[in-house]
Amino acid sequence: MNSVDLEDPSANRLDSQRKVVDPCSIVIFGASGDLTARKLIPAFYHLYKEHQLPAAFRIVGFARREKSDASFRAELREALDVFSRTKPVEDAVWEQFAGHISYCRGDLTDRSAYEKLERQLASFQPAELRNNLLFYLAISPSQFGEAVENLHQTGMLKPPEPGGWQRIVVEKPFGHDLASAHALNNELTRYAHESQVFRIDHYLGKETVQNILMFRFSNSIFERLWSRDSVDHVQITVSEQHAVGSRGGYYEEAGAMRDMLQNHMLQVLSLATMEPPVSLEAEAIRDEKVKLLKSIRPFTPESVARQVVRGQYFAGVVEGKPQVGYRQEAKVRPDSNVETYVAAKLFIDNWRWSGVPFYLRTGKCLPLGASEVRIQFRPTPNVLFSAASNGRLDPNSLTLRLQPNEGITLRFNGKIPGPRVGARPVRMHFSYDSEFGAYTPEAYERLLLEAIAGDATLFIRRDEVEAAWQIVDSIRRNWEGKPLSNREFYAAGTWGPIAAEELLAQAGHVWRDPQPLK
Ligand code: BG6
Repeated sequence: MNSVDLEDPSANRLDSQRKVVDPCSIVIFGASGDLTARKLIPAFYHLYKEHQLPAAFRIVGFARREKSDASFRAELREALDVFSRTKPVEDAVWEQFAGHISYCRGDLTDRSAYEKLERQLASFQPAELRNNLLFYLAISPSQFGEAVENLHQTGMLKPPEPGGWQRIVVEKPFGHDLASAHALNNELTRYAHESQVFRIDHYLGKETVQNILMFRFSNSIFERLWSRDSVDHVQITVSEQHAVGSRGGYYEEAGAMRDMLQNHMLQVLSLATMEPPVSLEAEAIRDEKVKLLKSIRPFTPESVARQVVRGQYFAGVVEGKPQVGYRQEAKVRPDSNVETYVAAKLFIDNWRWSGVPFYLRTGKCLPLGASEVRIQFRPTPNVLFSAASNGRLDPNSLTLRLQPNEGITLRFNGKIPGPRVGARPVRMHFSYDSEFGAYTPEAYERLLLEAIAGDATLFIRRDEVEAAWQIVDSIRRNWEGKPLSNREFYAAGTWGPIAAEELLAQAGHVWRDPQPLK
């Protein structure tokens, strides 16, 4: 029998299997856009550099502007110098990688452009490059339906069948409410099977977000505490220092609720609270997430008034730099009531979480950019040390730090050395960086690889996106026609509006702000 050195933590490591990736072609619709240059090409470049892409592959950029293969590659190269996570870009690697990239000029509404694309794909060797096709729709959602229909009509998108696969990757915003998300889903699935649709939420590409399930279901000591029996409440914070900047036009239509809470935050919440899945299959995990989302208590006009706070930043100072107010940002209406901050108190009406408040908050122009899940445990009975400190003993907490300073912190009380009986909170930290070294792939690298491999675990299923919109709609419909109140504005560079403090104070709670690690 092999002996395992239990003192060596790496001895028990479950090394992830390399993904099996078939030769394929990747077509990026909207290839002249920001996403291609900033995220997609840098991600493909790194996957290529790390030998994770299939042995044979092609990337075809499809867009309206007139470009040659050479000018398209030159543009991408220039952008890569700026957006690559590793610098400098390696010339030799780029040259080889760029040989796989070509350009196809065309209008999304023009059938003949798809026929031209089809001819380009048909010229690729080996045959898998013509049959295994990943279509990345980096285009406006209003164009999804037409693109998918044209792909179908020109024979590039076929029903799932042996001998090849075609997949469609779409980005957020995925609708702006339940009705529009539903309509979008119908358009996509008119010509594609749900199993061919990969909806991206880039938070699921983050290692720390994936680790939530691993942490919960590979450690018996914490999962036992993971319920109303031990948990007092949970705080999920996704704070951002930056302002809306050049995205004012988009943000006016979105706001923090649609931009962050509907997707990233509800995803984090569902991973942190769902029941154990029956297996690690994509559908098993997604089933549990949907169940969880459906157990969130729907909002009523009364509960929105009591449990949800909007906010908007006015001029202030962020990290020593002056910041204009949201209403003064470019492409923002001067009397805009769009929320740049939202805080909500949710309840999950199931056996495990009944009665436990979940506080979610996110905002722009806050003092620190940090995402974390903080599990706040119940206080000890007010006897012994708690009584000796007038009930002021800090309850234990466990913080999953999603970014930055990725890691986990357990906070508990320790005796202050000396003859007096005094206690104060002390911390136990796990840091990814010191444990595993700097391993910082971009979320997109992971997600693109999963889409090529056909593993849908890290993508959002139709019923999931719709369940999330249902929650958000039940809140948003109560905001219509109601301007922000004075208590809902906050100075840029502060932790949000006073109303958000009051939201927690109702139950005797306080926000635990993320702390920079010393
Ligand atoms: C995007 C939002 O989905 O996520 C942005 O549209 C936000 O407004 C961003 O800034 C945050 O992502 P991350 O990975 O920087 O936390």
